Amino acid sequence: MFATGVTIVTARNAQGQPIGLTANSFNSVSLDPPLVLWSLSRAAASMPAFANGSHYAINVLAADQKALAERFASRGVDRFAGVEHHSGISGAPLLEGAAATFECFNRSRYEEGDHVIFVGEVERCQHHGGMSPLLYHGGRFYTEHPL
Ligand SMILES: Cc1cc2nc3c(=O)[nH]c(=O)nc-3n(C[C@H](O)[C@H](O)[C@H](O)COP(=O)(O)O)c2cc1C
Repeated sequence: MFATGVTIVTARNAQGQPIGLTANSFNSVSLDPPLVLWSLSRAAASMPAFANGSHYAINVLAADQKALAERFASRGVDRFAGVEHHSGISGAPLLEGAAATFECFNRSRYEEGDHVIFVGEVERCQHHGGMSPLLYHGGRFYTEHPL
């Protein structure tokens, strides 16, 4: 019953292929230095790439990106097929149309329960003013009006 925004966290695996997943565990940690956190299930297929990689990007989704949020939470699909993106300073994919992006250095990790908490140092961030956010509450996505 805790309302959140919705992000897609992206990176490149050891082969240089783009990876990503939908995550709503994103939050701010510190302003100076600028730090953010998110948590990843130990069972996630992307765990090795995020655990071993030096950088990732957090894409904050806009209201019209619900389908993208669902796709990046689904298994057995090509998540990046037809998705417009470009590489950020570290190579992590930045998704076109996102409300904001945080490009992060993978600073520290904390193993807790069945998740690992990732703390990232923000190297660059961008936002598009005036965009409505995609919201998540009680297992449903919301914009300004329920979808
Ligand atoms: C709204 C929403 C929020 C989610 N947040 C997280 C999260 O914070 N951490 C996480 O590990 N999985 C989260 N998930 C589930 C992952 O997106 C899903 O398990 C995904 O398939 C994992 O991908 P992977 O196994 O390819 O890494 C969320 C799913 C949805 C729909």
